[in-house]
Amino acid sequence: MLEKEVAILLNEQINKELYSAYLYLDFSNFYKEEGLDGYANWYYIQAQEERDHAMLFLHYMQNNGEKVTLEAIEKPNIELKDLVDPLKAGLEHEQYVTSLINNLYTAAAKANDYRTMQFLDWFVKEQGEEEENADTNLKRYERFGADLKALYDLDKELEARVYSAPSLVL
Ligand code: FEO
Repeated sequence: MLEKEVAILLNEQINKELYSAYLYLDFSNFYKEEGLDGYANWYYIQAQEERDHAMLFLHYMQNNGEKVTLEAIEKPNIELKDLVDPLKAGLEHEQYVTSLINNLYTAAAKANDYRTMQFLDWFVKEQGEEEENADTNLKRYERFGADLKALYDLDKELEARVYSAPSLVL
């Protein structure tokens, strides 16, 4: 069994990761409607990764004898108008998720819960990559997005992204 505060935060993180998946599906749909199938693909795969993150938290709780309580997933609440909007919102969202992982880590450290800290190490590293990817996508769009040929090439590049299961196995 885990310390109560740690268990509550882990359970909440399942919902946060599922919301992330929902948010990125919304971004994917937006780009699909705009005819940018590469950006749509990139966020569709991102949504799959977020679902995986949720399952990792769920299985970690179950492996530690904790009851999982599923809560309602909020509706994506970001208004998308310009092509750059998902890219900006995506970076901000990943920075927010990093803060959640950090809070969880702090709670685990306070509880001397070394097992949870070790589990969270993967997410600490993952958040570094998530922020870097989001930042790169935003910067490249801001640098080249106004040029239609360059935008076409960027979109083609993002279309090549393929899903791969997370490297963390529980
Ligand atoms: Fe599950 Fe994008 O962090």
